[in-house]
Amino acid sequence: MINCHPSRLHTSKLLAAALLIKAFCLAVSAACAGPVELTIQASQSGKPISPDIVGVFFEDLNYAADGGLYAELIQNRSFEYSAVEQSQWGPFSFWNLQKLGGGDGSFRLANVRPVHPKNPHYAILTITRPGDGVGMANRGFDGIPLQADKTYEASFWAYQPFMNAQWGPDNSIEGRPMPVTLRLEGKDGQVLAEAEIKVAGRAWKRYSAKLKPSRTENEAHLVLLAHARGGLALDMISLFPMDTFMGRQNGLRKDLAEAIADMKPKFVRFPGGCLVHGGGIHHYYDWKDTIGPVEQRVGQRNSWGYHQTMGLGYFEYFQFSEDIGAIPLPVVAAGVCCQHGGDTPGRGQEGLPMDEMPGYIQDVLDLIEWANGPATSKWGAKRAAAGHPEPFGLKYLGVGNEDAITAVFKERFKLIYDAIKKEHPEIVVIGTVGPFAGGEDYDNGWAFAKELNLQMVDEHYYVSPQWFWDNLERYDAYDRKNSKVYVGEYAAHDRGRRNTLRSALAEAAGLTSFERNGDVVAFASYAPLLARRGHTQWTPDLIYFDSTNVYLTANYFVQQIFGQNSGDRCLETRLDAAEATKLAVSSVVDSKTRDLIVKIVNGADESAQINIRLAGLPSEVSMQAAKTLLTGPDADAVNQDGKSPAVQPEYSTESVGPVFTYTAPANSLTVFRIGSIKEKI
Ligand code: AHR
Repeated sequence: MINCHPSRLHTSKLLAAALLIKAFCLAVSAACAGPVELTIQASQSGKPISPDIVGVFFEDLNYAADGGLYAELIQNRSFEYSAVEQSQWGPFSFWNLQKLGGGDGSFRLANVRPVHPKNPHYAILTITRPGDGVGMANRGFDGIPLQADKTYEASFWAYQPFMNAQWGPDNSIEGRPMPVTLRLEGKDGQVLAEAEIKVAGRAWKRYSAKLKPSRTENEAHLVLLAHARGGLALDMISLFPMDTFMGRQNGLRKDLAEAIADMKPKFVRFPGGCLVHGGGIHHYYDWKDTIGPVEQRVGQRNSWGYHQTMGLGYFEYFQFSEDIGAIPLPVVAAGVCCQHGGDTPGRGQEGLPMDEMPGYIQDVLDLIEWANGPATSKWGAKRAAAGHPEPFGLKYLGVGNEDAITAVFKERFKLIYDAIKKEHPEIVVIGTVGPFAGGEDYDNGWAFAKELNLQMVDEHYYVSPQWFWDNLERYDAYDRKNSKVYVGEYAAHDRGRRNTLRSALAEAAGLTSFERNGDVVAFASYAPLLARRGHTQWTPDLIYFDSTNVYLTANYFVQQIFGQNSGDRCLETRLDAAEATKLAVSSVVDSKTRDLIVKIVNGADESAQINIRLAGLPSEVSMQAAKTLLTGPDADAVNQDGKSPAVQPEYSTESVGPVFTYTAPANSLTVFRIGSIKEKI
């Protein structure tokens, strides 16, 4: 007979203990065939666990924000793209000059009279001969997707730059508005919708029109044409679907937001990741640059080598969290940049000069006031002006991300931490313990967390699927008196970093261990969340997408199943196997619904017969169990874009008694959800 226990630490002890596996909310790993006894103390109340374990980690990488979740369809709408971001880019990337029907003119970049000082560049369009129109066309992110039955709002900021000055007294436009056409054009040049607008005067003004395309088109262009001799200053040329998630203005792409919402995440972490501390000490993500009117936000190169407009900014993150019933969990830099940032990867950590720290700390305190302060407070007023007078209810704030735990880091972290604790003791500060599941920064990070008595720390691990199976007991050994854990980034990286069923089930096994240690693990988020096909810097990811499709991975379905089946109490569960198994199990209760939720992960290539006993229930009781099964043809199965998913949940209902036998298919996750269990006792 083979030992069933996962932990190398305990293997010999368990061999001697003759194959009896026992744990509180147990998870077991090994390899197996014979019947397994699973006993769940269904009549006991169990131990309290975090009800919020499964959440999402959003970072603007892989075009997750611009060109992704942020519903803006124009790329480079404010002419801020630059070669700093990508060597081939400039202010007119993704724009083309349009000269129709004998028209002539040009455009150039200007910065002398911007729409706002924080948004320095704009275009000057000069029309020397109007013909059938002179203007600019934008091709969006891989073409602009349009749906025939939907309405889009096209808008731009403009003024008339040189009326009399350039054109002299015979200027045909002098004293009169510039006629402009806004047009949606198919790839074949067909006009799908258009609107007329007149731009008048020397002051920047926003103009807009609603456009309804006559047909569906995946690679459309937005074209702006001027029709008189003269000039136009143009900025913030935008095209938004009216049908955003929850109908929000400056909102989110509906299908992607819905896919995230469907996971029932209990929290949303944002805006990163590495993005938080940016690519060098003065390039960190400054939340203040991301709020207020979109034309007043500060775009910049993000750490992943492309432009972020900040159109999806702190207000939108908080609002999205609220819209989906999730806890907002922002992360700010700890006054240092990433050790891999700057020009010296691996040794690039730098601290903000100490004389800049008070200002930086004030920014962090202002964030708390912006989120939670009354509408009458300085920063709360800005939130209210954006349309949210009620506080957002910020409770958690991450400080630092995967930082090397150096003296430079510690000094700055402590200053920030002390200031938050002094001014806002109600905020839980989440510290960082480096980029890995162990090692120097992990050890030093934990030692520092203990020194400061931090309430929570952020652990990250991108590891092999087997690592998850080998470490199912990781948190069993954590001292319950220490900081709680937020597993802020994790993923099983299989061969070729593909989204295999094997990787998804390893994460599911890990999640059972988070659940049964939910008194230590408060939160956990798979990373990264989103990736646009053709613009991906990191794999694997949870959700892939292109302009019109959303592709859900096996890993996504694991998160969704756990998110939809969370509990707040974990029941004592015992798994006895005569032979080795690769099984992981957790049993939780949702106190609101009183449902008992049993999750069984079988990571083996053979099915496992499991005799399940719900101890404490009367022998005659019969119950309906909602069953969710996630499996696939084999462990290597990967969902392919555009094909019916090889791995997706199947739902059914089964009648079960207090004792029933279940054969867990090879490579599967099964959830039994048994309603109102306490009423059966
Ligand atoms: O999730 C991708 C990256 O992995 C994150 O930005 C960083 O925190 C981690 O190294």
